[in-house]
Amino acid sequence: MTALKILVIPGSLRTGSHNVRLAAAAAYEFAQAGVDVTRISLGDFPLPIYDGDLQAKSGVPKNAVNLKRMIGALFVTPEYNSSVPPLLKNTIDWITRVQDTQEFRGQVFRERPFAIAAASEGRLGGTRALGALRLILSACHATVIPNQLALSFADQAYDDMDRLKNPADIEALKALVRQLIDVSQHMM
Ligand SMILES: Cc1cc2nc3c(=O)[nH]c(=O)nc-3n(C[C@H](O)[C@H](O)[C@H](O)COP(=O)(O)O)c2cc1C
Repeated sequence: MTALKILVIPGSLRTGSHNVRLAAAAAYEFAQAGVDVTRISLGDFPLPIYDGDLQAKSGVPKNAVNLKRMIGALFVTPEYNSSVPPLLKNTIDWITRVQDTQEFRGQVFRERPFAIAAASEGRLGGTRALGALRLILSACHATVIPNQLALSFADQAYDDMDRLKNPADIEALKALVRQLIDVSQHMM
C-alpha cells in the first residue's frame, strides 16, 4: 500500500503566527502516527490575486498546479472579520482552476480528504472562519471530516516548546489527526 501523505497548510505568513504554531503541532501528531507529512508556508507558493484575464493570458500559475498535486490537506486558518483570510481563499480559488489531463476541473477536491482547524486569540477560536472554510470546501465537493479544532485564546495556548498546554486542546488535535488518517486510508 502507498504511504499516506498529508499536507498541512497554515493560512498565515505572520512571524509568530498562532496558526503556524498549531500547524506545527498537527504535523508533529501526523509524524508520530507514521504519516508522510509536509507542512508548508504559502509564502513559498506565492500566487497573484485571481483574475480571469490573467488565467486566460498565462494559464494557472505553476504554484497552484504544484499545490493541487500535493493535497489532501489540513488547512489551519486564521479568522479575519468572521471569515477566512484572502491568502487562503485565493489559494483555494487558484487550485480549483487547475485541470490536469483526463481530469475534470476541481476533481482533486472530490477525491482527497480535508480537515480544518483554526487558532485565534478570541474566545471562539476562529469558529466562524471554520464555518466559512467548511462551506467553501464543501461547495468544491470536498470530503471535509466532521472533527475540527477551534483553538481559543491561542496567545496563551502553547508552552515554551510550542506544545499545546491544555489537555482538551491536545485531545481535540489528536482526534482530528486520527480521523483524517482514517478517512484518508478509506479513500486511498
Ligand atoms: C483583518 C483582520 C481581521 C480579524 N478578524 C478577526 C475575527 O473576526 N475574529 C477573530 O477571532 N480574530 C480576528 N482577527 C485577529 C486574528 O485572529 C489574529 O490576528 C490572529 O493572530 C491571526 O492569525 P495568526 O496568528 O495565525 O497570524 C483579525 C485580524 C485581522 C488582521
